[in-house]
Amino acid sequence: MKVLIPDAQFPGEPAFERDALGDAEFLVHRARDPLQVPDSAWAAADAILLWQDMAIDRAVVRKLARCRIVVRHGVGFDRVDLEACAERNIPVCNVPDYGTEEVANHALACALALRRGLPTYTEMLALDPVAGWRWDTPPLIRRLTGQVFGIVGLGRIGRAAAARAKAFGFDVGFHDPYLPADEPAAAPYRRIDDLGEMLAQADVVSVHCPLTRETHGLLGEANLGCMKKGAILINTARGPIVDTAALLKAIETGSVGGAALDVLPQEPPDPDDPLAAAYRVPPSWLAGRLILTPHAAFYSPESWYDLRYKAAETVRDWLGKGVLRNCVNAHFFPAGALPSGGAGV
Ligand code: NAI
Repeated sequence: MKVLIPDAQFPGEPAFERDALGDAEFLVHRARDPLQVPDSAWAAADAILLWQDMAIDRAVVRKLARCRIVVRHGVGFDRVDLEACAERNIPVCNVPDYGTEEVANHALACALALRRGLPTYTEMLALDPVAGWRWDTPPLIRRLTGQVFGIVGLGRIGRAAAARAKAFGFDVGFHDPYLPADEPAAAPYRRIDDLGEMLAQADVVSVHCPLTRETHGLLGEANLGCMKKGAILINTARGPIVDTAALLKAIETGSVGGAALDVLPQEPPDPDDPLAAAYRVPPSWLAGRLILTPHAAFYSPESWYDLRYKAAETVRDWLGKGVLRNCVNAHFFPAGALPSGGAGV
């Protein structure tokens, strides 16, 4: 079995993948553009393990002569043409359960850091441990009890964040138009059907929906304008969901209190990007109000192993045992037409 990893983001050998896939032959490339991977590698692959920098579009799918499964190392699958894969009988799967805890912890860590003033204290004491020894400078400190924590997308990570926020005393509300009304996991939290209404109520807004056509730019000028004055926006989902130019303006004008962004529309950002530039040399209105992290919310050594092992395990189970897990393009196959996996590849 030949397993192509076109955009590997680990150093060295695919050791964790081998733990699951034994003696498979791995074709490891560290490309960002599919054109940097030889056509012969695309054509030879029985399975593809895809990281996050590369898009698998229709042109790439046409090169897949033998491929029987594409597995995204991660949750989001917005960069894979699901329909084109289904047309070639290729199921696309993700790994939804490797880092839920880490991302939820990261979102809460961001909320707590801004609401407890950690960026300001850290910076002031590093600059001058004597003059900086004061408690009253961070701009966003608030008691959490009774504040509203508004979640956009109450899926796996949204629920994990909700449970944590509740434990810290927040009043948790959520907006998720696709969650059935009788979903038991949502029962402890307040459903707010209208996004604008939730944004108007929330002291902290945490984004946990996928990037789709509908959510692209969802937190743009209009919806940012609905946010409660002084509220914090946290995005650990996908960069293009938040319009960062509009966000920067909203912080400058004081309508949004601050933000923590683990994901950006372009990663890493262009150094001249206004948000990145303002973060490097913060104007006075931004001090203590912005946290950036490098798409790291998922990361811990434990989640890193789980991510890689589980992605490879998904290939093993489909090609070896005909068991398909976490298929995200099943809806593009005609009813009952998912291909069978089967041993002996
Ligand atoms: P999930 O699929 O379990 O939950 C997503 C939820 O969003 C669902 O309940 C869905 O109904 C809801 N949703 C869809 N469209 C919506 C809309 N227009 N408005 C409000 N809610 C909407 O996904 P999970 O595991 O919770 O992951 C969420 C996102 O987190 C992923 O799509 C991924 O992009 C991102 N992520 C980021 C990571 C990081 O390191 N920063 C790591 C892992 C995931």
